[in-house]
Amino acid sequence: MAPRVILIGPMGSGKTTVGKLVAEKLQIPFRDTDQVIEETTGKSVSDIFLEDGEDEFRAIEKKVLKDELLADGAVLALGGGAPISIDAQSALRAIASPVIYLDISLAAVAPRIGFNRDRPLLLHNPRGQWQTLMEARRPIYESIADLVIDVNDKTEAEIVSLVLEVLA
Ligand code: S3P
Repeated sequence: MAPRVILIGPMGSGKTTVGKLVAEKLQIPFRDTDQVIEETTGKSVSDIFLEDGEDEFRAIEKKVLKDELLADGAVLALGGGAPISIDAQSALRAIASPVIYLDISLAAVAPRIGFNRDRPLLLHNPRGQWQTLMEARRPIYESIADLVIDVNDKTEAEIVSLVLEVLA
């Protein structure tokens, strides 16, 4: 029992967009840890950060991730920070589902991460904060991934095809 495929990568890398398209092609459900967190808490990710703090968000995220990894057959997109805890790393390395890392450069992501109030970690100096997070997380994303897709110069359709190839 596990997801059909798991998408990881930084904010703005296209996990949700690509994940939805892959799920549509395969006619299987799409799941997204942020969306599950918002449904179960009844709050937006931004409000959880603001009202309860990042530690509380991470605790909820950890539980949601654990449950989602046990659920069968969906395309699962993880929030950018969801794979980073030691527990999450171990679980993702052990799982049979292919883990695909959507790798994107700061130059390509910059236009997407401007002033987006749904990304509480990027409220001030979004590019600088994105880059700092990415420098710390890139080695972890790489070490967990079964496949890295460099999404910089690819269309959505090309990225979706590469994911589908892995699943064929
Ligand atoms: C976060 C990424 C966000 C969301 C939260 C924290 C992160 O998800 O979980 O704002 O720590 O990188 P997306 O990667 O889907 O934007």
